[in-house]
Amino acid sequence: MQANRVIRKFIPLLAALAVAPAFADDANMLEEARSVSSAIPPKLLSVLDEEIKKSGPEGAIGVCREKAPAMAKAASEKSGWAIRRVSLKNRNPKAVPDAWEEAVLKEFDKRAAAGEKPTGLEKGEVVMDGDKKMYRYMKALPTQDLCLGCHGTSDRISPAVQAKLKELYPADQAVGYHAAEIRGAITLKKPL
Ligand code: HEC
Repeated sequence: MQANRVIRKFIPLLAALAVAPAFADDANMLEEARSVSSAIPPKLLSVLDEEIKKSGPEGAIGVCREKAPAMAKAASEKSGWAIRRVSLKNRNPKAVPDAWEEAVLKEFDKRAAAGEKPTGLEKGEVVMDGDKKMYRYMKALPTQDLCLGCHGTSDRISPAVQAKLKELYPADQAVGYHAAEIRGAITLKKPL
């Protein structure tokens, strides 16, 4: 009887100990994904801003076309996280979200419509990829005024930029945005 009671008392504790490391792991992965992903957009933004001031949006297309993927690649190599950008209305034909990313992007749109600030939208989750356990993380990339010269409504995009975009991305869907809308997201994954 006595022993039983003691065991019963300890069961929740044992259960908590068994679960705790998993929670700690997830929390660590979330922290890591946050810090790896948060380094890229501000850097990209300052390079974009500088280039637009120097040579206009048509001259800055290369920043989004080459610098952004290069920065993601460098951060991937340094951190071990696979990093890329995706969108429900993609410009780069490869920026199509997979099923998990598509669901998260739709969830971000819903959360923004319900009043959450687009800049704070993020999601981290442990997801099975075949038989591999992955930690996956996404953070929304909202538009600001600066983005609209290349992603805005047609009155905001100069004829020169429109012509260049048409030439480089004949199937471009990434236009028609206003400020503070979700343009897409940065997406990260790493095996657990
Ligand atoms: C100078 C033009 C320009 C500006 C300004 C610009 N972009 Fe882009 N953006 C592009 C181009 C070009 C691509 C396609 C890049 C590629 O080929 O990978 C792109 C791609 C993207 C993608 C990847 C998904 C996709 O649709 O291919 C995201 C997300 C994105 N831009 C967000 C933004 C945000 C947010 C801003 C403002 C902070 C911004 N962009 C400003 C030109 C621009």
